[in-house]
Amino acid sequence: MADHMSPASPPAVERLTRYTKADQGEILGDSPDPFGVDGYGLTWLPKEDHFGVRLEGRLVAHTGLLRLPVSIGGARTDVVGVGGVAVAPDLRGRGLARLVMTAALDHARTMGPQHGILFCRLPLVSLYQRLGWRVVEGDVQVEQPDGVVVMPLQTMWTPLRDGVTRPPGELRLLSFPM
Ligand SMILES: CC(C)(COP(=O)(O)OP(=O)(O)OC[C@H]1O[C@@H](n2cnc3c(N)ncnc32)[C@H](O)[C@@H]1OP(=O)(O)O)[C@@H](O)C(=O)NCCC(=O)NCCS
Repeated sequence: MADHMSPASPPAVERLTRYTKADQGEILGDSPDPFGVDGYGLTWLPKEDHFGVRLEGRLVAHTGLLRLPVSIGGARTDVVGVGGVAVAPDLRGRGLARLVMTAALDHARTMGPQHGILFCRLPLVSLYQRLGWRVVEGDVQVEQPDGVVVMPLQTMWTPLRDGVTRPPGELRLLSFPM
C-alpha cells in the first residue's frame, strides 16, 4: 500500500524489558479509554512479554503476550493471549501494527501453545483478519472477579504452528482475559 513504510526499511521491533502505563501513554496519549473497552467493565491481566517499535527514540507501537490456561472442548491446554495492540494515532495506517504483531507472533511460536487468541471490538475484526486472524464462533467464557462471564468482545484466533486447525470445541479461559 502506498502509504506503508518501504519494505526495504521497516523500523526494528524490539523486545521491551518493561511496559508501563507511561509507556502506553507515550504511544496512545492520555485519552481516558484508548482501547474503547472500559464500558464493558472487565478485569484484564497485564501482558508478560512486550514488543515495541521506537521511531527517533519515541515508543510508537506495542503488542503484548501472555500465556493463558484454557479449556478447549473440555480439554485443558494453554494458548498465547495477544493484547495491548497499540499504534500512535499520528502513525496509523502505515503497517506498524502488522510489523509489531508479526514480531510478537514469531515469539509466540516459540512458547509452545498451538493457538494465539485476542479479543477485539467488532470494528477491528476485518483489520485482524487482514493480519491472518480468524473469528472464534460461539460464546467464549472468561473468568472475572465475581465468576465466569461470556466475553462481550469478539474472540479471534491464529495458528502458531503449521497445520493447526481452529480450536476444536468451546473455548473457555481459565483466567481473567488479557
Ligand atoms: C488497531 C491499531 C493498532 C491498528 O494500527 P495500524 O498501525 O493503523 O495498523 P496497520 O497499518 O498495521 O494495518 C494493519 C492491516 O489492517 C488493514 N486495515 C486497516 N484498517 C482496516 C479496516 N478498517 N478494515 C480492514 N483492514 C484494515 C491495513 O490495510 C493493514 O493491512 P495490509 O498491511 O495488508 O495493508 C490502531 O488503530 C490503534 O492503536 N488503535 C487504538 C488501540 C486499539 O483499539 N487497539 C486494538 C486493541 S484489540
